[in-house]
Parts: sequence; C-alpha cells; structure tokens
Amino acid sequence: MADFGIYIHVPFCARKCDYCAFATWTDRDHLVVAYMEAMRHQAAAAVHDAMPPVTSVFVGGGTPSLVDPHLLTAVLDELPIVAGAEVTVECNPDFVDRDRFDHYVAHGVNRISLGVQSMTPHVLEALGRTHDPDNVVTAVRDARAAGIDRLNVDLIYGANRESLSDWEQTLADMLLLSPDHVSAYALTIEAGTALYDDPARHPDDDDQAEKYLRAEAALVGAGLTNYEISNWSTVGQECRHNLLYWTGGNYLGIGCAAHSHQDGRRFWNVHTPERYISAMESGTSVEAGSERLEPDARALELLQLQVRLSHGVSVDAIADEVRHLVDVNSEGIAKLTLDGRLLANEVAIRLTIPDRLQKHVGAEHIGSAPTDDSPPGVDHHPM
Ligand SMILES: C[S@@+](CC[C@H](N)C(=O)[O-])C[C@H]1O[C@@H](n2cnc3c(N)ncnc32)[C@H](O)[C@@H]1O
Ligand code: SF4
Repeated sequence: MADFGIYIHVPFCARKCDYCAFATWTDRDHLVVAYMEAMRHQAAAAVHDAMPPVTSVFVGGGTPSLVDPHLLTAVLDELPIVAGAEVTVECNPDFVDRDRFDHYVAHGVNRISLGVQSMTPHVLEALGRTHDPDNVVTAVRDARAAGIDRLNVDLIYGANRESLSDWEQTLADMLLLSPDHVSAYALTIEAGTALYDDPARHPDDDDQAEKYLRAEAALVGAGLTNYEISNWSTVGQECRHNLLYWTGGNYLGIGCAAHSHQDGRRFWNVHTPERYISAMESGTSVEAGSERLEPDARALELLQLQVRLSHGVSVDAIADEVRHLVDVNSEGIAKLTLDGRLLANEVAIRLTIPDRLQKHVGAEHIGSAPTDDSPPGVDHHPM
C-alpha cells in the first residue's frame, strides 16, 4: 500500500511572530467553530470520494493547540487512518496541558511537534515570540505522561541577538528533553513580516553557517542523524509525513491555503478562512488553483528535493563544478558532504536529469517543491 498523507491547516494564532509569513490570523476567533466544522465536512467529502487509507496526518498551522481539542479531533475522526499511522499535531508550548494531550491520544495522535525556536528568553524576544522556555519543559512532561512518545522540536537559528553560546545553550537545553526528532531552520526573512521591515534584525550568513555546524555537532553527539538538510532524527523516527512531500508522494490538504498533490497534479485551497468557510457552506470547490508540471520539470523538482535528503541522488545529476560538495558511493549515489549541506542551493540549481532517470521518472508521481527551509504543506504568503 502506497503512503498517503493528510495535512490539516489550523490558521489561528494568539499573536503573530515577527518572522512568520504562514497563512495564520490573530483576529479570527469568531470563525473557529465554523472553520473547524468546514474542515470536518471537507474531510468527510474526501472520504466519500474514495480517499485512500491514510498513513500519516500532520495537523499544522497556525496554532492547532489553540482550538478546542474536540473540534480538532472531530476532523481526525472522519479519516480512514490505518493502524500504525503517524499522527502529528503542531503545538505551541504556551497552549497545551495534560487534558488536551489525553484527548489527542484518545483520538489517535502519537506525535507532537513543539514550536520551541529558542530556549533563551532574549532570543525569543528578538524573534517576536512570546512563550516562556519553562513551558517547553512542562509541555514535554505532559505529552509524555499522556503517552505521546514521539516528539519533534522546531528551532530557529540566526536571530540578531543570538550569540553562538546562546545557540549552544538552546541546543543543550532542548536535548535534555530527549526529542527523537529536531527541525532546525535558518531564520529566513519573508516579505510581509515585521522582520522584513527591520533590516537591523536580519541574519548574517556566516553566523548562520557556524550555527548549522554547531547544531550538527550537538545533535549527532546526542544520537540523532541528519536525514534532510534541516531535519535530524533518531533511527526510524524520520517524519513519515514530511518524507511524502520530499519523495513525491500523494497527500491531501484540508483547510484554507493547504496544498495537495495527486499523481503529478498539484492544487491548493483558497487562502483565507472566510473564503474557505463560505465555499464549504455553499457547496462550491475550495480549490483555488492547480498545475501539472511537464515530466522533465517534475523530475528536476524531485531531484532538487532529494539532493537535500541523506539518501542522495545519482551522481550523473551533479554538475562537475559542485562535485567537491558530494561524496559518491560505489553504487554511484551522491550525497551532500557537510560543506555541501551548507551550499545545497548551489548544488540544486546545477542539477541535471540523468537520461535513465528521466525515462524512469516520467511515469512516476512527483511532488511539490518547497523552495526554502520552511515546512511544506501550506503556503506562507503574507496576509
Ligand atoms: C508552520 S510553523 C508553525 C509552528 C507553530 N505555530 C509554532 O510556531 O509553534 C512551523 C515552523 O516553521 C518555522 N518557521 C516559520 N517561519 C520561519 C522563518 N521565517 N524562518 C525560519 N523558520 C521559520 C518555525 O520553526 C516553526 O515552528
Ligand atoms: S510561528 Fe507559529 S505561532 Fe508564530 S505566527 Fe507563525 S504559525 Fe503562529
């Protein structure tokens, strides 16, 4: 059975972080009930249209843990989730407690992704982020007590007031929580955010490169392995859902601004919660647009995603001038070196489709290509 994923987008936040361009709103509380109900209807309609068995679910946002957990699990309950599926909810450490986790677990959630970003208060402040680092520790304790074993921690490095020792402290404090998965993202300046308008707070490339190397050292030292440029995990705990995005699998996006991929066709939903609710209530399509890439373009996109993964790509795809950035094994598979990971975009833009791969990939399912380090599944255009 092929993997099939569901992404569920909860577009509500208590406050907008200064770096964030995801499709989220802080002033739409009055829409929460209608929106969650509309998502439940979209899920039910997709099941009615013969949805395949679901092998992974990712509830993201926004801040899913901000909404009434009953409304959230009512959407999950509609889905044909297989036994052993990975079911993740993205949580903000400020808006979780034991009861909420107990409720999630009773409805099949077995993994949380905690938006930690930094364990240092002045760095959180520099990111325009509110939570108290102590809440991270409490959140992890409560999640584990509820039976959620799988834990991802999201981190961001490169805030202007973050020293190298602040970053190392964040890594060390975070590792005390024994996560089985860590996503560490270079702070990216997105148009339409508060940071975009404040050049004094923009990150420095050399500082970010050094922080990446320190992350690698700390995470590998703690028993995690890098399997995608921004993602590390213990053995077997790679995020099955994100691997779908990176390997060209099929997935359906539920909710506003959510993206989907089905057998080479990509489509995305209307951007705002208002338009989403209104489309669902009036029985019109929530799809805002779609595209089908030519086989060559699809093959190239897939290569650009896969070169970022530790399983690598055929060496024939790697341009001569960047060969020094990959290690090639006896089977002709090229994997980025550590220096190569720092310069992955240089390698990716020079990739070419090897002839035999071109023939093979033309008939394969190719997924969408996130163009930066941000998590896939939802667009992140400014409001
Ligand atoms: C879709 S966001 C939502 C996570 C959740 N709402 C939270 O913040 O706790 C997922 C992750 O993307 C990362 N992210 C978002 N915007 C970013 C940016 N501009 N630069 C780097 N990482 C970013 C953050 O690590 C964040 O936790
Ligand atoms: S980073 Fe997370 S909490 Fe902050 S605004 Fe974006 S989605 Fe909301």
